Formats: sequence, C-alpha cells, structure tokens
Amino acid sequence: MLKFLGGLAAALLLILIVGFAYVRLGLFDPRADIAVGSIESRIAMPSLDAAVDRRAGNAKNPLQPTEATLVAASKVYQANCASCHGDIRRTHAPLAESLYPRAPQFLEDTPDMPENQNYYIIEHGVRLTGMPAWKNVLSEEQVWQLTTLLSHIDKLPPQVSDAWKAAAGAAPVADAEMKGTMQARQEMPMR
Ligand code: HEC
Repeated sequence: MLKFLGGLAAALLLILIVGFAYVRLGLFDPRADIAVGSIESRIAMPSLDAAVDRRAGNAKNPLQPTEATLVAASKVYQANCASCHGDIRRTHAPLAESLYPRAPQFLEDTPDMPENQNYYIIEHGVRLTGMPAWKNVLSEEQVWQLTTLLSHIDKLPPQVSDAWKAAAGAAPVADAEMKGTMQARQEMPMR
C-alpha cells in the first residue's frame, strides 16, 4: 500500500513538473487568434459556469424591462460591449475571432444564464479572458440595465430595436466625419 501511494505521489509530482516546465519554458502557443482547443473549452466552460453559480449570490434585478430601460441599456452596450460581443447591426463583432477564449456573440447566440450570474460576470469580468470587470467604469444601475438587455435581446420591442439601430449606425458616420476632418487638415496650407 505504501509503495502504491509513493508511486502515486511520484507520478503526480512528475505531472506537476512537466506542466510547470511546459508553461515556464514558453512551450504553449501564446496567440489569441488560433483555433480554441476542444478539450480546453470542454473543461473551461463548465468550470466557469460552476464557479459563477457558486459565487453569484441571489441578487435580484431591481429593474423592469421597460422601453426606457432597454433603450438606455442599448446605448451603454453599444459604447462598451459591441466591439467584442456584436450589436444589432453587426451581429458578428469585429473582435469575435480575436479573443481566446472567444467572446460569445449575443445577437447570434442568445445568452441563457440567469440574471444574477450575468450581473456578476459583468461586474467582475472573467480572469484570463478578454472579459473586463465593468464595476469600476459603469454604475450598478447600468450593469442591471445591461443584464436586462441580455435577458430580452431576442425579443426587443420594435421601438427599442429602432433606437438601438440608430445608436449602432452612429459609428460609421463618426468615422466619415473623422476622415473629413483629417482631409481638411491635410488640405490646410503647410507652413
Ligand atoms: C474586450 C472584449 C470584451 C468586451 C469589451 C466585453 N466582453 Fe464580455 N466577454 C468577453 C469574452 C472573451 C468572454 C468569454 C469569457 C469566457 O469564455 O470565459 C465574455 C463573456 C461575457 C459574458 C458571459 C457570457 C457567458 O455565456 O458565459 C457576459 C454576460 C458578458 N461577457 C457581457 C459583457 C457586457 C455586458 C459587456 C459590456 C459592458 C462586455 N461583456 C464587454 C469579452 C469582452
């Protein structure tokens, strides 16, 4: 029995040393734009779900999904979340394939987590991923607004979709204006 336990301990130690060497010697691929390993995502996603489930507490959403709340949320979302998670115009975000693990695309794949868990993730972010903790940037009310938007993202009233589309359309206009400004600058006589 002792021999067996000794062998087991030695095997575990060896695994630890090999694992440490793999990471410390830089043998892993550090790029974010490679294919996401299937074993990794099969282990990571359920682990994250379990960890959030354990910690999220049972906070209740204090907001009603009124038009005003959803429109306010769509603006906060457009300014802070769209580049990674997509928006109502560009359902596939510019950075969709640029993060490891990938950011879920909420307009293509409706979020199905309970509200207390979405709230918790938005507040605190997800370690070792591109998902930031927003509690230092957004108010508690804004985070609940976003949570409410995620719960209703596949069933928004038309007035809300229209307001969101308008907010999402503002970016290219701003780009064009920027280009105009740059051109105007270039046309200025050089001294
Ligand atoms: C820089 C990119 C980036 C930005 C900006 C960003 N996120 Fe994320 N988000 C991610 C990534 C990457 C994940 C996936 C983390 C993982 O797989 O563990 C994620 C995960 C999430 C999740 C968990 C989804 C799930 O099903 O597990 C929620 C909810 C979320 N983000 C909401 C938001 C909201 C709301 C905003 C804006 C306030 C936002 N995110 C901004 C990258 C981003």
